[in-house]
Amino acid sequence: MTSADGAGAEPSEETSCPTAVREFWSSEVPERTLKLAQLGGKRVVVANVGGSFFAMGEVCTHMGGPLSRGRLNGFVITCPWHGSRFDVRTGAVVGGPAVRPEPSYEVKVDGNDILIKEN
Ligand code: FES
Repeated sequence: MTSADGAGAEPSEETSCPTAVREFWSSEVPERTLKLAQLGGKRVVVANVGGSFFAMGEVCTHMGGPLSRGRLNGFVITCPWHGSRFDVRTGAVVGGPAVRPEPSYEVKVDGNDILIKEN
């Protein structure tokens, strides 16, 4: 008798593709604009700066303002609530009152898709 009902027969899945991702058409994020994305329950803001895409946390580390509704000036996003400024390339604070940086995410453009993953 054989007991081949699946024991030890797990398919081996490769997870070379990291934490997944919200995909966009790149045309959904025109140059010099911001877009809100959800990544595994986290809010992420995607920015198009000169045709290059960047992503960082969307919830302001000061008091939770929605950075996707802020202003993009060069590589800097300004929070609409109290004016904290963050460098979208790194999430670093470049102007208070916020003191903690935003998490930064890796962005890959695949054809017309924008893929975001956690660093
Ligand atoms: S909530 Fe963003 S600066 Fe205060």
